Amino acid sequence: MPVTAVIGAQWGDEGKGKFVDILAQDADLVIRFNGGNNAGHTIVNEFGTFKLHLIPSGAFHPGVKCIIGPGVVLDLPAFVEELAEFDKSGISFKGRLFISPRCHLIFPYHRALDRLYEAAKGRLSTGTTGRGIGPAYADKAGYNGLRLADMARRDLFLEKLNLQVSLKNRLITALGGEPLDPAKIAEEYFGYYNLIQPYIQETFGMTQTALKDGKKLLLEGAQAVLLDTDWGAYPFVTASTTLVSAATAGAGIPFNAIGEVIGVCKAYTTRVGNGPMPTELTDATGDQLRQVGAEYGATTGRPRRCGWFDAELVRFTAALNGFTSLALTKLDVFDQFEQIQIATGYEWEGQPANYYDGDAEFLGECHPVYQTVSGWQQPIAQVRRWEDLPEMARQYVGRLEQEVGVPVRYIGVGPDRHETIERV
Ligand code: GDP
Ligand code: IMO
Ligand code: MG
Repeated sequence: MPVTAVIGAQWGDEGKGKFVDILAQDADLVIRFNGGNNAGHTIVNEFGTFKLHLIPSGAFHPGVKCIIGPGVVLDLPAFVEELAEFDKSGISFKGRLFISPRCHLIFPYHRALDRLYEAAKGRLSTGTTGRGIGPAYADKAGYNGLRLADMARRDLFLEKLNLQVSLKNRLITALGGEPLDPAKIAEEYFGYYNLIQPYIQETFGMTQTALKDGKKLLLEGAQAVLLDTDWGAYPFVTASTTLVSAATAGAGIPFNAIGEVIGVCKAYTTRVGNGPMPTELTDATGDQLRQVGAEYGATTGRPRRCGWFDAELVRFTAALNGFTSLALTKLDVFDQFEQIQIATGYEWEGQPANYYDGDAEFLGECHPVYQTVSGWQQPIAQVRRWEDLPEMARQYVGRLEQEVGVPVRYIGVGPDRHETIERV
C-alpha cells in the first residue's frame, strides 16, 4: 500500500516533523492536510535546524513534491515569511510545491478575534497559539470564509472581504479591540498573493495520478489526536480534526488508499495550552523533563507541560486511528533517570476508568495508576540498532508496546534525522 499517514499520538509536538523528514526520503509526494501555522514541526538535518509551520516536512528532499492540501488554513504573511527562510537556505521549491486553491485564508481579524476571545474567557480559555485558527475554521464551517481561489476574482473577493471586515469589526470593537481597515488588508494580501501565485494549483489531478502510478504518498498530520475537536477534551482542543480520517478530506484521497498509519509519540507526555493532563509533573522531575527534552513550543516558545508516559491515552489514540506502528521519540531524554513511571490506566472515584468515559472535567479528576521501571543511566544518542540499546531501555520500550498494543517500529534517540533506530 503506497500511502502512509503520520499522526500525532498525544497532545502534539511528538516529533512528527522529524519523522516526515525521515520517511520522505522514500516518498514521491508529501501532503500537509490539516491545521495551519499553529503547528511547529522541527527538523534537524544537514541543512540546519528548521521550524516549519506550513511547508510540508518533506521539503528537504529535492525529488519530493509537496502539497499544502485543502484542509489547511493558510496565513499568507506567515507562509511568505517561511518561504523566504527557505530561500535563504538555498532550498528551491520551484515546480515542486503546490498549494490547493481550496485552502481557507486566515485574516488579521481571525488573529484579533482569537486573542480577544481568549482574553474574554479568562480562566476558561483554551490557551491557543493566537494564530487565528479557531475563528478561521469557524468561518469556513459557517460559510463566511474566503479561500485562496477567491483571490483570482479580485472584485468579488474585495466585496466579500469588505463584508467580512465590517461584520468582524463589530465583534472586535464590542470585545474592546481596534477595528481593521479592509483596504489595507486587501493591499497587503494581494501583495502576498502575487508572490505565491506560482505555487497555487488544484491538487486533485496530481494526487490521483500519483495514486494510479503507484507513487509513494506521505500524509503529514499537524497537531495530534488528543487535540481533535471531537475526541479531545473539549474545549481544550484545536479547531480541526486531527485524526487519520482527516487526511482523506484534507488531502483529497480515498480512505482505502491509506495503508500505514504511524502514530508518533514521545517516550513521556507533554502538552502546551490549557486543559487536563493526568500525568503532569509540576515538581522537579517535570522540570528535568522540560530541561533535558528542551520542551518549549516551536510556535509560541511557551514552556510545555511535562509528565510520565500515559498509556491510557495512547491506547485510546491508537484504537481510534488504527495505528499500524509507533514512532517513539525522545527516549534519550530519560538517559539519566534512575527510575521511570508509566501510567498504565486511570482511576476515577476509586473505580477503573478510561479516557473516553467523560469530559474535560472528568479527565481532570482521573488519577493515573503507575508502574515504576528502572532507567538505563547511560547515553543512547549514538545507538543505531535495537540490539545495541541498553537492556533496561529495551524493556521500557517493550512495556510501552505491551500497554498500547502497537509495535514500536522507530525509536528516536536525538533530534537529528540520523539519531533514529529502525527495528527491522
Ligand atoms: P512536531 O510538532 O510533532 O513536529 O514536534 P516539535 O518539533 O514541535 O517538537 C519535537 C521536538 O523534539 C523538536 O525540538 C525535535 O527536534 C525534538 N526531537 C524529535 N525527536 C527527538 C528525539 O528522538 N530525541 C530528542 N532529544 N529530541 C527529539
Ligand atoms: P504541532 O503540529 C501542540 C494547541 C494549543 C492550544 C490548542 C488550541 O506542532 O504538534 P489553536 O491555536 O490550535 O487554536 O490552539 O491546541 N496546539 C498545539 N499543541 N502542538 C501543536 O501543533 C499545536 N497546535 C495547536 O497550544 O492548547
Ligand atoms: Mg510542534
